[in-house]
Amino acid sequence: MSRNEIKVLVVEDNPADFRLVSEMLTESVSPFFTIFHANLVDEAIKILRKDKFDIILLDINLPDSRGLEGLEKITLQEQGIPIIVLTGLNDQDVGLQAIQRQASDYLIKGEINRNLLVRSILYSVERREGESRYRSLIEMSPEAIFVNRENKIAFVNQAALQLLGASTMEQIAGKSLFDLFCPDPQHQICEEIQRVLEGLSAPLIEAKILRCDGTTVNVEVVASPFFEKGVRSVQVLVRDITVRKQAGEVLKRDKEMLEGMVKKRSQELMGIQVELERAKRLSDIGTLAATVAHELRNPLAAIGMAAALIKRKAKDTASIEKHLKAIDKKVMESDQIINNLLFYSRLRPPHNEEISIAEILQECIDLAKKQSNKAVVVDMKHDPIKKVLINADPLQMREVFSNLINNAFDAIPNMGGNVEIEMIREQEFIKIFIRDNGEGISKENLDKIFDPFFTTKAKGTGLGLTVCYRILSMHGGSIGFTSEPGKGTTVVVNLPQKTNG
Ligand SMILES: Nc1ncnc2c1ncn2[C@@H]1O[C@H](COP(=O)(O)OP(=O)(O)O)[C@@H](O)[C@H]1O
Ligand SMILES: [Mg+2]
Repeated sequence: MSRNEIKVLVVEDNPADFRLVSEMLTESVSPFFTIFHANLVDEAIKILRKDKFDIILLDINLPDSRGLEGLEKITLQEQGIPIIVLTGLNDQDVGLQAIQRQASDYLIKGEINRNLLVRSILYSVERREGESRYRSLIEMSPEAIFVNRENKIAFVNQAALQLLGASTMEQIAGKSLFDLFCPDPQHQICEEIQRVLEGLSAPLIEAKILRCDGTTVNVEVVASPFFEKGVRSVQVLVRDITVRKQAGEVLKRDKEMLEGMVKKRSQELMGIQVELERAKRLSDIGTLAATVAHELRNPLAAIGMAAALIKRKAKDTASIEKHLKAIDKKVMESDQIINNLLFYSRLRPPHNEEISIAEILQECIDLAKKQSNKAVVVDMKHDPIKKVLINADPLQMREVFSNLINNAFDAIPNMGGNVEIEMIREQEFIKIFIRDNGEGISKENLDKIFDPFFTTKAKGTGLGLTVCYRILSMHGGSIGFTSEPGKGTTVVVNLPQKTNG
């Protein structure tokens, strides 16, 4: 458009008023006015869809829209064109209200003259051009911008329409910013906007905005107050933070997963370290046991022989006889300890055969029953896999299970109790549970029971479980304890059905 040619759309149903206005304008040469005419608002809208205008002169009283209705309809359609409202003598209030909305000026019919009309048009067009430069900046902004005025959205830019999934301003006509922010953080954002309306600044806050299709988008919002035509309004900048949020969530998830992995690995490493320490201690003990056993054997044999000699030479003395018997007994006990030590130190790699664990368990139970004078009821619950054979060293297995069953019998009080043995199959493993309702093991002791020489029994060696642990490790199996003091203990032995070697 050149400033010399101004295209005017006059929306006026009264032919006399239209003629008056158009005559005033056609008198002017510079600028030169091209005049178009519409009788009704709807007709004007149709024309506006087809053609571009520099200014609209709008009669406030038309058959299809009274008062400010027509102004609102037209501004919805054409945000950029300045509108001068033409009012009657009695409608001056409406003219003022029109200015508070979108109108750039109002003129009272009957008081209009050529100069006034041309000046008002030129001034409105000039001002709107200034505004439109600012507006085009805002339109181009990649950030979504909303303007809320009198609790209604008065303006949105292209980015805002896109964010809402709307193609035209009409889709959000009549809505307020409050409608767009979702119910959940609604209170907070509405409070903020309210604060801004009261002239206070609002911090950057996160919210959710409701799109036209009913979905929501995570956004970040800043709002600031301003005055427009005497009305306090709010200008809101809304930024889509979906991608940032998603990235944050992915990072958080990855971090948690990594932390979990590190924690798991650390635990595994700690477990391995404990095992290594135990293995090292056991091998040290093994060497020591062999040496001690060897060293003790000779002096003990000498003591035994000396006692036998004395016994032969001093038959008559009864008291000597008693002491000599005591020596004999202690020598035998020492010998037993040495046997245990040697068994431990000489543990050889298993000689595997196909054996029935159920049978071995039965033998160990029979033996334990024979040796014990307690009333122990033993319950075998392994019928379904009774016939299963496994590849293991029969002697070593006997050693393991007689140790465990003896421990169970030992734990049971003199008046009697129960031992329950259960055998199940779990994938490639056979699991044997040995449960007793004996005295149980304190939490503190539970950590020590596999330590060599740890015993709570007057005549215990503390080597039984150490040996079990080693034998089971050599078979690729494992052993575990759970216990409740005063209630009983459960031992789980895990054995692979097919062992190597
Ligand atoms: N079934 C059980 N109930 C209670 N305590 C047990 C049981 N099995 C093992 N223990 C505890 O573990 C210790 C070590 O057992 P073990 O190595 O077999 O040595 P010992 O039987 O010679 O004491 C026992 O002294 C006992 O305190
Ligand atoms: Mg034992």
